[in-house]
Amino acid sequence: MKGIILAGGSGSRLHPMTLAASKQLLPVYDKPMVYYPLCTLMLAGIRDILIISTPEDLPQFRRLLGDGERFGVHFAYAIQPSPDGIAQAFLIGRDWLGGEACALALGDNLIHGDHLSALLRQAAANPAGASVFAYQVRDPERYGVVLFDEAGGVLDIIEKPASPASNWAVTGLYFYDARVTEIAASIKPSARGELEITDLNRVYLREGTLRVERLSRGYAWLDAGTPDSLIQAATYVQTIQSRTGMLVGCPEEVAFRMGYIGADELRAHAGSLHKTELGRILHELAEGQHR
Ligand code: G1P
Repeated sequence: MKGIILAGGSGSRLHPMTLAASKQLLPVYDKPMVYYPLCTLMLAGIRDILIISTPEDLPQFRRLLGDGERFGVHFAYAIQPSPDGIAQAFLIGRDWLGGEACALALGDNLIHGDHLSALLRQAAANPAGASVFAYQVRDPERYGVVLFDEAGGVLDIIEKPASPASNWAVTGLYFYDARVTEIAASIKPSARGELEITDLNRVYLREGTLRVERLSRGYAWLDAGTPDSLIQAATYVQTIQSRTGMLVGCPEEVAFRMGYIGADELRAHAGSLHKTELGRILHELAEGQHR
């Protein structure tokens, strides 16, 4: 399975911070925002990753991430000329995908929790259909919202409903089978002129192959698309890291734990960050502590 990180958009809810900088490159505590969804894809076992961003911002992503060797993965890059919807990622990535199954992670989403890797690998291993994740929030009207029947079956998903029928928001992490490009090409722009990811999910829902996994309270799902959610995400990462000494959203660490890079490479990366606490923790990890 391949993976796409969509890091486009104008970041208008974060203006003026994003007038001259990509939202997904803003710091979330001690790392650029895009590191967090990158780690999510890596934890799913995905190593071929396409980064999609705007014509203005894509060079900065290349500068930050390079070819992926540092993290034991391979990056490709593509431009989204205008923000015409999340599902457009599959049309932009059509040739690169070459008809393979694909996961999509939104560049401003952070998911963290115990056994996340097992949950993600299970979603990635499912051969047919699509898997999405739902999480209980207090402000569901900002998201795609899942409507469940009494038995827990999914009745519908509604994009940003004015009166949400539940508190279960669809997170910005999606796993699709090999038909995703074809299905994305079949959906029509919504009233706001975008190819909606919710419409893509509803195609799978109608054919009975959409799985909606509810993330329990043992997980944290945060987005960082507004000033408040940005600072909440930063505080969350700071709290967990400073309390436990374990990192959140660090691709060098994930690469090491997944066996994509070895201790020598990790030690070298730690050295390149030696003036930071992050570098110190990576060094300890390379020396066999924090197991
Ligand atoms: C998008 C999707 C929405 C999803 C959300 C998750 O919204 O359209 O269904 O719940 O991401 O972050 P956007 O962030 O583009 O407003």
